Amino acid sequence: MMTSSSALTSSAFAPLPHFTRPTFLMCPPEFYDVDYVINPWMAGNLHRPSRDTAFMQWKNLYRQLQRVADVRLLHAREGSPDMVFVAHAAVVQHGLAAVSSFAHPQRQTEEGHLRKWLQDAGFLLWETPRETSFEGEGDALFDASGGHLWAAHGVRTCKHSHRHLGDAWHTRVTSLHLVDPRFYHLDLCFAPLSGGYLLYFPGAFDAASLEKIHAAYGADKRIVVSELEATQFVCNVINVGRDVLLGAVETDLAKRLMERGFDVTEMPLGEFQRGGGSAKALALRLSDSALALGDPRIESTL
Ligand code: ARG
Repeated sequence: MMTSSSALTSSAFAPLPHFTRPTFLMCPPEFYDVDYVINPWMAGNLHRPSRDTAFMQWKNLYRQLQRVADVRLLHAREGSPDMVFVAHAAVVQHGLAAVSSFAHPQRQTEEGHLRKWLQDAGFLLWETPRETSFEGEGDALFDASGGHLWAAHGVRTCKHSHRHLGDAWHTRVTSLHLVDPRFYHLDLCFAPLSGGYLLYFPGAFDAASLEKIHAAYGADKRIVVSELEATQFVCNVINVGRDVLLGAVETDLAKRLMERGFDVTEMPLGEFQRGGGSAKALALRLSDSALALGDPRIESTL
């Protein structure tokens, strides 16, 4: 159901889903392909992903994520080749799901499938207006405490949608401006991690946004990645406690994360990088961010 303004859709009076373990949603790459070009990574990759290799890579990520979290599944649908990047279809916190209004018609078909799944699973739905595009965890990420939402605009998500997000959770939202089309989503250049750390690529932001980031994260908490690393999708990580899952990286990033107490698992995700995404984009967080990122053991290993 689309509305002209934000609206809450309650699924009767069922109790909201409650999670005792970090929980994510994934969608298998049954119909995954690069069928169109809506980001710079897709150019030159039309119909190039191998579905067999994509399935192998996806299953490996699924298995690795199951080691550290519960993983639910959403059925893929024909005609929605990017649906595997399920993290962009919503943001979930405290049992409330803000459902995306994708900027491109090619991805709008995904909205209804995820909305139905979330509703059947008992989540409260927060509809976002079509006029102000918003792309879920692609552009909106809660910090480790769960009390602060970082939201990006400039490419896919419209700045005006940030107000609707603040209203959804009555939470503080900090807007960040993305300035490099290669990093068209926040989850490609910014990742709040356990222990209050931040993994980020400064070159993706304008100066005012960098000031906001630096005011919130002290120098000792910032893990800066290089342009080369950012183009290898290293910010697109899944972090659960001290575990960090990410695509293969050619630099010493794993070492820099391990020095701060993280356990790092790298895996090939190249077929998805042809479509412009990596590990993080393939899993939507369903449990609260604090359950996944609030691991005190990271602090104590410093
Ligand atoms: N083809 C998808 C899109 O352009 C890829 C999404 C992956 N994005 C990301 N932020 N990791 O929407």
